[in-house]
Amino acid sequence: MAHISASVYTSHVPAIGAALDLGKSAEPYWQPVFQGYEYSKQWIEEDKPDVIFLVYNDHATAFSLELIPTFAIGCAAEFKPADEGWGPRPVPMVKGHPELAAHIAQSVIQDDFDLTIVNKMDVDHGLTVPLSLMFGQRDPVHGAWPCPVIPFAVNVVQYPVPSGRRCFQLGQAIRRAIESYDEPLKVQIWGTGGMSHQLQGPRAGLINRVWDNAWLDQLIADPAACAATPHIDYVREAGSEGIELVMWLIARGAMADVAGGPAPTVKHRFYHVPASNTAVGHLILQNNR
Ligand code: DHB
Ligand code: FE
Repeated sequence: MAHISASVYTSHVPAIGAALDLGKSAEPYWQPVFQGYEYSKQWIEEDKPDVIFLVYNDHATAFSLELIPTFAIGCAAEFKPADEGWGPRPVPMVKGHPELAAHIAQSVIQDDFDLTIVNKMDVDHGLTVPLSLMFGQRDPVHGAWPCPVIPFAVNVVQYPVPSGRRCFQLGQAIRRAIESYDEPLKVQIWGTGGMSHQLQGPRAGLINRVWDNAWLDQLIADPAACAATPHIDYVREAGSEGIELVMWLIARGAMADVAGGPAPTVKHRFYHVPASNTAVGHLILQNNR
């Protein structure tokens, strides 16, 4: 059977992708950001997943405001890096895992979560920046990402957006789906977006280190309580785009302890301000079974 070996959480700030693509990662402004991922790159090299289930949000790139799925699962064989206005990022095509994605869709929908099935979709910085942070730069033409990726897009852009509680329950359904797949695959689940950020209006640039870190503490130690955080708290405390953090609760809900198993090990935790106008948060939790 397939199993979830670990969950990875990271911000997906587009300027991080631009810094990598433009060869600026060693500059004094960016060096501390990339330093925070050095351990992670080594860790994932030593414990490579067979598939990554990558929870992110589309930023009005693949889905316009004409059509906004709350939860969308990418079932295609491949996904092109999107052109977000400056041409596509120079990163490899993202290969999917249609068989596992179809199985997860079947299982999760039968488990009463309504998913949108996506058979063609370009993927934006929400998905490609986390891949670059964890795997480094890859040749866009001759290179490849190390494993297939199942994109899972969550609407956190246009209200109403799903609650943290709903996301946490969905993570549990995704774990049941993965653990019922009849092939011995090692799957990682990633949650991306956040942390503090407000991109527009009078509060643009809002950073709340204390709230971000208390939220991280609770995500690790008491995820069910963390999942009860109301929307208004994210927006008030972490800025309007801080709401992206509900996606981390999908990954956390898929961990073994939530279903009565052993607590995960915190392999790595990192927090840094600033990157662009935002805080960067990163966490790796490893399952212990
Ligand atoms: C920015 C955009 C994002 O989608 C995000 O998650 C963080 C920062 C930005 O435009 O700076
Ligand atoms: Fe974002």
